[in-house]
Amino acid sequence: MTPDDKKRNAAEAAIDYVKPGSTIGVGTGSTVNYFIDLLADKMAGKITAAVSSSEASSERLRGHGIAVIDLNEAGGLDLYVDGADESNHQLQLIKGGGGALTREKIVAAASAVFVCIADDSKLVETLGTFPLPVEVIPMARGLVSGALQALGGEPRLREGFTTDNGNQILDVHGLRINDPVDMETRINQITGVVCVGLFAHRPADVLILGTEDGISSIQT
Ligand code: 5RP
Repeated sequence: MTPDDKKRNAAEAAIDYVKPGSTIGVGTGSTVNYFIDLLADKMAGKITAAVSSSEASSERLRGHGIAVIDLNEAGGLDLYVDGADESNHQLQLIKGGGGALTREKIVAAASAVFVCIADDSKLVETLGTFPLPVEVIPMARGLVSGALQALGGEPRLREGFTTDNGNQILDVHGLRINDPVDMETRINQITGVVCVGLFAHRPADVLILGTEDGISSIQT
């Protein structure tokens, strides 16, 4: 089973959570791309619309003829499906490898159920091996870097990348995140931070992993 097979299998299992007639939240990344393609294939004409976490996913959804609406128009959502860069066993996540963390966190916050889909390499004991993405207002980059260093991290600017919100990303290496809720709170308090890609206050509700044998899932 290749990593892509595992991603596709996890994405396929998430289709079972989609209710006909609903408006759903859709995340970003290669695993979610499988989900979008399967959604178009298996639920054609059955969902009302999607709220998307990135321009890239919006384009893919529209390409399949799925309506994309603004979150303000949709109000609350029943379901959000998205990938992750790392998950621990409490379903606290590192996200933002694709740079869409801020909109992802907004859509996750607006959703009753967050189903995370990934291949099984993403499940870890302790978060932090994957560099933690932090979206920053460009003029505050130096200020935020200093504060992140004080927390024990080694921030590196994601070169040549601008977020959909016109900001920059610092990828923070070398963190061993033993208390994700505390770390998220501390980084949120740094002036100039738009969003940190740590989803600990609002973890996933269900994690579907593609494995060698098919899929396995963890529920909180
Ligand atoms: C984008 C994300 C993605 O969900 C995360 O990077 C996982 O991506 P992939 O499914 O390609 O492994 O957070 O900002």
